[in-house]
Amino acid sequence: MRLHVVDHPLVAHKLTTLRDQRTDSATFRRLADELVTLLAYEATRDVRTEQVDIVTPVSTTTGVKLTHPRPLVVPILRAGLGMLEGMVRLLPTAEVGFLGMIRDEETLQASTYATRMPEDLSGRQVYVLDPMLATGGTLVAAIRELIGRGADDVTAVVLLASPEGIQIMERELAGTPVTVVSAALDERLNEQGYIVPGLGDAGDRMYGTV
Ligand code: URA
Repeated sequence: MRLHVVDHPLVAHKLTTLRDQRTDSATFRRLADELVTLLAYEATRDVRTEQVDIVTPVSTTTGVKLTHPRPLVVPILRAGLGMLEGMVRLLPTAEVGFLGMIRDEETLQASTYATRMPEDLSGRQVYVLDPMLATGGTLVAAIRELIGRGADDVTAVVLLASPEGIQIMERELAGTPVTVVSAALDERLNEQGYIVPGLGDAGDRMYGTV
């Protein structure tokens, strides 16, 4: 597994406002959307393309276009949904699947309550979206599902990662073709499984749940 923490002043600036508890839901959603687009730029560095010949108003030349099969973007419900637009803005031809996962707040175990995506992901590049890589349980379960369906290149786009979550991912997904792209690697998890300093419950912050 590879970890790529995106080091860029615009990323740090937007993340700082997301962390601030005074930021309201509307601003949080807009900034998360913008931040994902910046992360998407890095996350798609190895997106597969093929060469095409085109004619400009001046001459012929060769360029590239995104290749088939189309990349698949999979937001993990609920909070990953707030990252979808920011991602497909840069990948407009992507197909979108959905994974509904919930974490038991006591055991911190992730379970799947909804799946909507192609059965066969052989040869597909997949971008899975989940804002918080905390204990790692949700992402490990989601990535196992994707690899089980044949995906051969999975990139997880997250806003924040914890060292504990990264360690679990490295252990549980050793030898699998997985990259994690994050805006920051935070200090630790607290006893409730929240990332510290973090930004709180990403779904609640996005959707105004109290
Ligand atoms: N999920 C969140 O939304 N926030 C955390 O800090 C950890 C898990």
